[in-house]
Amino acid sequence: MPVLPDGWTLVALDSVGSTNDEAIRLADSGAAEGTVVWAREQTGGRGRRGRNWASPAGNLYSTTVLRPACAAQRASELGFVAALAVGDLVPADRGVRLKWPNDVLVDGGKVAGILLESAIGQDGLVEHVVAGIGVNVSFAPQLPDMRYPGAALGGTVEAALEGLTRALAARLAQWRRDGFDTVRAEWLAKAGPLGAEVDVRLGEGLVRGRFAGLDREGALLLETADGPRKIVSGELLGRAA
Ligand code: BTN
Repeated sequence: MPVLPDGWTLVALDSVGSTNDEAIRLADSGAAEGTVVWAREQTGGRGRRGRNWASPAGNLYSTTVLRPACAAQRASELGFVAALAVGDLVPADRGVRLKWPNDVLVDGGKVAGILLESAIGQDGLVEHVVAGIGVNVSFAPQLPDMRYPGAALGGTVEAALEGLTRALAARLAQWRRDGFDTVRAEWLAKAGPLGAEVDVRLGEGLVRGRFAGLDREGALLLETADGPRKIVSGELLGRAA
């Protein structure tokens, strides 16, 4: 069995619909931060924007319960924390590149997907966030709606889970200790170059501009032909950055 960081708890399953759904169920019944739901396969893996996440055995499917006790507006910061943690898994010589908001690319291919889901209390504070992370370990599914080709990390699912939870624990501690500014700076250091041309899908529309960084709330900054633009929610499409 994979060994998790001190104080973390593993819920290991052979098969589940979605580890996010199972983690939400556990979080709703009081599961502590660091409860990790891991399944060998998912029969209903979910991606961002209502997409499916192909989840046959061989890759990593895990969701971690987080209790950040922060304001609801700050919950999205954890997506950048999670992306950095996944990036930490990638050997330095393979050239990891982070794409807004929280895609992780290796050798130009998407190696992992991150799906955060939050429960907000009536006081406006986050009750819990579940951080669902799928890592391509032994193969890279090529889905028709993927914006990037796939890439795989190699190694074993067990080693990937151990590495991921260790990295996540360290990155969470960094976020709590140093705040989002540090996370943002580290994320930017692994993102595409400033000034690179990017397309962003907003619902049915498309915005084209030059990558101008990340603001202090995690919004994407663009320089467009019509001036500076701040994008809170959307998807970067595969162009230069
Ligand atoms: C994306 O669309 O890029 C996000 C994909 C997130 C997939 C992971 S796999 C573990 C967890 N359980 C799910 O159903 N989804 C996430």
